[in-house]
Amino acid sequence: MTEAVSLELLYEAPGLPADPLPEALAQVYGGTLGFPPSCLYANFVSTADGVVAIPSIPGSNKLIADASSTDRFVMGLLRASADVILVGSGTMAASPKSIWSPEQGYPPVAAELAELRQALGLPAELPVAILSASGRIDPDHPVFAAGGLLITTDRGAEAVADRLPAAATIASTGATLDISAAVAILRAQGHRRILSEGGPTVIGSLLAGGLVDELFLTISPLLVGRTPDDGRLALVEGADLLPDLTRGRLLGVRRDADHLFLRYALSATTAASAAP
Ligand SMILES: NC(=O)c1ccc[n+]([C@@H]2O[C@H](COP(=O)([O-])OP(=O)(O)OC[C@H]3O[C@@H](n4cnc5c(N)ncnc54)[C@H](OP(=O)(O)O)[C@@H]3O)[C@@H](O)[C@H]2O)c1
Repeated sequence: MTEAVSLELLYEAPGLPADPLPEALAQVYGGTLGFPPSCLYANFVSTADGVVAIPSIPGSNKLIADASSTDRFVMGLLRASADVILVGSGTMAASPKSIWSPEQGYPPVAAELAELRQALGLPAELPVAILSASGRIDPDHPVFAAGGLLITTDRGAEAVADRLPAAATIASTGATLDISAAVAILRAQGHRRILSEGGPTVIGSLLAGGLVDELFLTISPLLVGRTPDDGRLALVEGADLLPDLTRGRLLGVRRDADHLFLRYALSATTAASAAP
């Protein structure tokens, strides 16, 4: 490992599942990382005042994370642990070069992340699924050439089908993009551990559907504020999670200097509404 990354374990709930992490990863992460056999978990980095995206700043994730290498390490680790990764078209547009691979998350431990996937019986390449109801996506985005799955509507599929590279695949949930149906498509493909790196709109939709089992949340030590017209996004957008509150049960707290790395188990909600 070329950079100094480390996590100080402050709290971990007892009895969590434990995956066979290679020693180099286990040393940095500390404590346990593992998941129930079937699980949808999300990963976010947020400023201390709750901002996760600043559209006026290209690549704002780096600013929001305060350029934390440890946050990148956790991102790589969570990707390596997944059967499939789910992102929304908004996140895809904001990351024109990403293919959401574990090694892109944190290259210095690429070999160890590959070793973890092998130990978990997962394929070397992490499959990526992109959500877009409209089909207004860039078909030349590298994620499609790398074999990405576009989950869309009949109308979206019609708009984009003959412009995607041969390696890409398309699935439709019909007239509308129903998030439960999208997750069911991934489950039907045999994916048990689903990682959402979708943005605030996708997580809002997933939370409103009661579909998120766990949230990994990095809190950076920055405060950036919001004004009515600046377009900055909070962690959840486009979904009203009241009156049924989504409640987190703390599973883990880690620290690297001024950054906190929180892990929550979320209670399922069913009655909330979402507007993608
Ligand atoms: N800080 C972090 O950890 C973090 C993590 C992820 C993303 N981000 C940032 O968040 C920003 C993007 O936010 P976003 O909310 O626009 O992105 P997003 O949640 O990734 O994508 C939202 C888009 O997904 C499509 N979609 C289709 N069906 C949907 C459904 N049922 N539910 C929800 N979405 C559906 C819609 O686009 P169509 O018009 O194509 O249908 C929707 O506009 C970027 O700046 C990105 O970098 C930050």
